[in-house]
Amino acid sequence: MARILTGIQSTGTPHLGNILGAIIPGIELSKQSDNEAFFFIADLHSLTQIKSGEQLRKNTYATAATWLAFGFDTSTNVFYRQSDVAAEVCQLAWFLNCYTPFPMLSNAHSFKDKSKKLSDVNAGLFTYPVLMAADIIGYDADFVPVGKDQQQHLEMTKDIASSFNYIHGETFVLPQGIYDKRVMIVPGTDGQKMSKSYNNFIDIFLSDKALRNQIMKIETDSTPIEEPKNFESCNAFALYALLADEGQIDKMKTNYATPGYGYGHAKQALFDLICEKFKTERVRFNELMENTDEIDRQLAIGAEQAKAAISSVLGKVKNKTGY
Ligand code: AMP
Ligand code: TRP
Repeated sequence: MARILTGIQSTGTPHLGNILGAIIPGIELSKQSDNEAFFFIADLHSLTQIKSGEQLRKNTYATAATWLAFGFDTSTNVFYRQSDVAAEVCQLAWFLNCYTPFPMLSNAHSFKDKSKKLSDVNAGLFTYPVLMAADIIGYDADFVPVGKDQQQHLEMTKDIASSFNYIHGETFVLPQGIYDKRVMIVPGTDGQKMSKSYNNFIDIFLSDKALRNQIMKIETDSTPIEEPKNFESCNAFALYALLADEGQIDKMKTNYATPGYGYGHAKQALFDLICEKFKTERVRFNELMENTDEIDRQLAIGAEQAKAAISSVLGKVKNKTGY
C-alpha cells in the first residue's frame, strides 16, 4: 500500500480553483484502493503570512470543512491539522534544519519571490521548506501530489532526507512528487489563473446573492447583445465548460452563436450550474461551519493517528543523532 500525503495551507476559504485543481483530484486519489491518504491543513505554514488569530482559526475551519463537504472519507484516511502535531513536527524540523545547507534555502525561488512581494519577510518564510520536509518525511510518505509550483520544495525534501540517510544510514523514505499535468488551471474572473492574491476568485460557499455578484463580475468583451459571440475567448464560457457535461457545453456554444444571447445570460447559466452542481457541498460546508465541534472531533481522530506515525520516525532520528 502506498502512502500519499499532501498539505494545503489555510490562507482563506478554498476557492473554485483550489477545489477543482486540488481538492477533488486529491479525494479521487484517496479513493484508489491501494492508497492510504494523509491529508492535512498546513496551518503552521499559514502563520508565515497571517497574523490574525481569529482569521487563521476561521481559515483552518473553512479549509477542513471544504475537504469534508466534498466527501473526504476520514474513516479510511488520516485527516489532521498540522498544529495538532506541532510538538512533533517542529521538533523534527529542528533536526532537519541541521542537515539543510544554508544556500539551499537562500536560493529557493519561492522564498525569493515572496521576499520581493511581501512586506513581512520573516525567518519562518525562510525555513518554510524545512518544516514542509518534516511534514513529508516524518510520515514515511511515498507520494506527494502537489502543484508544479511546489516541485522545488519536494526536491529539497528529498535532498534533506538523502543527506540524513547518507550520514546515519537508511532512516527516511524518499518521497516522490506527483505533478499531474492533466489537472486544469482554473481561470479567475479576469481570465488570469484564479488566485486569492489576484482577487479574481469565485467562492462557491458564499450566499446565493454574493456568489451571483462574484459571477456577474466576470470580465467579458463588448460585443453587442444582437451579435454572435466568440465562446473561445470568453472567461464565463471557460468556467462553464469546466463544470458542464458535453450536452450542456454544445448547447452553450449554440447560445453564443445566437444573436440576442448576452453575456449576462451566460453568467446566469454559470451561476445556476454552480448552485446545482455543488448543492449538497454548499449546504454541508455551512452546516460544518456552524458546528465546528464536529470538525474538531474529526481532526482529533486524525491527530492521534498522525502523532503515532511521526513519533515513530522522530524516535529513530533521536536515537541516531545521540539523544
Ligand atoms: P494555493 O492556495 O495557491 O497554495 O493552492 C492550493 C492548491 O490548489 C494547490 O494544489 C494548487 O495547485 C491548487 N490551485 C490553486 N489555484 C488554482 C487554480 N487557479 N487552478 C487549479 N488549481 C489551483
Ligand atoms: N507548501 C504547500 C503549498 O503551499 C503546502 C504544504 C505544506 C505541503 N506542507 C506540505 C504540501 C507537505 C505537500 C506536503 O501548497
